[in-house]
Amino acid sequence: MKYLIANWKMNLNEDASLNLAKKYKKRLKGFKNLTIVIAPDLLYLKEIKQDLGKSTIKVCGQNVAAEEKGAYTGEVSAQMLKEIGCDFAIVGHSERRINLNETSELVNKKMNQCYNAGLVPILCVGETMEERLKGQTEAVLTRQLHGALGRVNGLPESDLFIAYEPVWAIGSGKNMDPSEFQAVYRIIKRVLSSLFSEKFYEEKVRLLYGGSVSSINAKDFWIAPHIHGLLVATGSLEMDEMYNIAMQAE
Ligand code: PGA
Repeated sequence: MKYLIANWKMNLNEDASLNLAKKYKKRLKGFKNLTIVIAPDLLYLKEIKQDLGKSTIKVCGQNVAAEEKGAYTGEVSAQMLKEIGCDFAIVGHSERRINLNETSELVNKKMNQCYNAGLVPILCVGETMEERLKGQTEAVLTRQLHGALGRVNGLPESDLFIAYEPVWAIGSGKNMDPSEFQAVYRIIKRVLSSLFSEKFYEEKVRLLYGGSVSSINAKDFWIAPHIHGLLVATGSLEMDEMYNIAMQAE
């Protein structure tokens, strides 16, 4: 099974979100080997989930609180997301790490919250251009994975999605060369096998790529070894573009 995750970020108002979800429902169906997941703005999640009805499209939180419940003004818990029908939550997106100072400690707590509530976390990792040019990609990924997963209690029960999203590729129109994914896969597999086990990696982990995926480059990513799915933001806002990205998976 491959996965196509649409992260709409904070781009669409209510009308646009509900309309696009209806279009997804109508056009993104009948795939045998592709699961489509939408991460709309939190405000519209519940209505979109209801509108999707019997569609196989799943919904996902763009973020989740680091705590279970209590006096955390403005936060939404993993359990709340689960209750309105979410199966997934994005954790540690670089926009949150960089713009909102989300630390490894916070990301780790969010991972634990997802596991406690039965949500599958989509953990985002990736280096900046500066780090890449300094040859620090491996060190950055290792640090981010240890930070997020080092203190997860016991073996995670549910699946673990890791989205490798090089920061320089996000929204820039400059995607990573798919042939470079092999090296990233090796790093991620080594770290997760040492944190948990190789068996855990093989059975539970799904690797995604994100960063300027479009209908022009999607095919190369779909056929690249070790990529189980794609996380798409800009391209997911246009129905035709998203449809073309999805079609190339099959
Ligand atoms: P992009 O963003 O598809 O616009 O590059 C990807 C992401 O931030 O997940």
